[in-house]
Amino acid sequence: MKRLIIAIDGPSGAGKGTVSRALAQTLGYRHIDTGAMYRAVGWKAHHDGIPLNDEAAVARLARAADLVVEGGVVAIDGHDVTGAIRTPEVDKLASTVARLPQVRDVLVTRQREMGEHGGVVMEGRDIGSVVFPNADVKIYLDASAEERARRRAHDTAHAGSQAGQAAVAEAIQARDLSDKTRSASPLALAPGAVHIDTTDMPIDAVVERVLALAREKIGR
Ligand code: DC
Repeated sequence: MKRLIIAIDGPSGAGKGTVSRALAQTLGYRHIDTGAMYRAVGWKAHHDGIPLNDEAAVARLARAADLVVEGGVVAIDGHDVTGAIRTPEVDKLASTVARLPQVRDVLVTRQREMGEHGGVVMEGRDIGSVVFPNADVKIYLDASAEERARRRAHDTAHAGSQAGQAAVAEAIQARDLSDKTRSASPLALAPGAVHIDTTDMPIDAVVERVLALAREKIGR
């Protein structure tokens, strides 16, 4: 049976994580959260005192890092950072790191190595556009800015969500703007991607919709 590459892109709070995990579980695929890779690199650079404007040094760190982003655990160079990377500070560090082309090159190469044999649901911002432009299924999940802020504020995995919805909305909008307007691989609808607005959709319905697309490709 064909083991697909499924690319899930979109802004924060669109439901990528929940949908990707459910899909991977149903299909028996690996789930790879590429945002966690940018977060872990941002965390480690900060931890090691590497300034984020030293692009070559951050890229070296990303290339050499022992990085784990599967099975519900995120670890870098032996540090379990599963919880530590879900803070407003690391939101900012990751967004800055994600603007650096040399770092993107390193992480994209690693992502291709992780996913090239298929049987993978990979979520991020540039999976369908850059990492796997020939992915079997490409999805762009979106939701209204209000709904995304509401979800992020209720996300218990995200420390600092007590900040309140207004502050969360402001922070999300700043990061979205950075992700969409950066010169290196900005967040955009990839050619051939199916756009799904999840604002008024229960998560199960989103998962069913993507599963139907995947099953068409698998041929069952
Ligand atoms: O999905 P997330 O919020 O955990 O991602 C963290 C940051 O990394 C965010 O600013 C978007 C960026 N990112 C990216 O540029 N490319 C990816 N493939 C994944 C995340």
